[in-house]
Amino acid sequence: MKIALAADHGGYALKETVKKHLEGRGYETLDLGTNSADVSVDYPSYGEACGRAVVEGKADLGIVVCGTGIGISIAANKVPGVRCGLCTNTFMAEMTKRHNNANVIALGGRVLTDPIALQIVDAWLDAEYEGGRHQKRVDMLAEIK
Ligand code: RB5
Repeated sequence: MKIALAADHGGYALKETVKKHLEGRGYETLDLGTNSADVSVDYPSYGEACGRAVVEGKADLGIVVCGTGIGISIAANKVPGVRCGLCTNTFMAEMTKRHNNANVIALGGRVLTDPIALQIVDAWLDAEYEGGRHQKRVDMLAEIK
């Protein structure tokens, strides 16, 4: 299982922490940048890049990080086929997999502590999509143009 990661300068530090954690859990990662917190970059480009990596099959899942997680989640969700859930706690992380079948999650590097962020990542990875009554709604998401 390969997980794509992308962040702007506001999410860089947390992306690096998440990357180490994922690799420690045995996941392959695809790091799409950015590579420093010192240079201001544009979160839409990074959210789009991660979303495209997932829908094009270069990665199975994606994690995007900016200062709040908001901007980069909006960007990722503009890519058709992406279902990106912005998560600020483990309940949201679990539910966005179980009900929304989120293939990307967004985190806020200026919102979350490292331990909470890693618990969120694990809760999302370890949860399973339930399908069933949720599938119709997930299908409806793909119909929104
Ligand atoms: C960058 O300063 C900041 O706007 C960005 O990281 C993010 O929080 C946007 O939603």
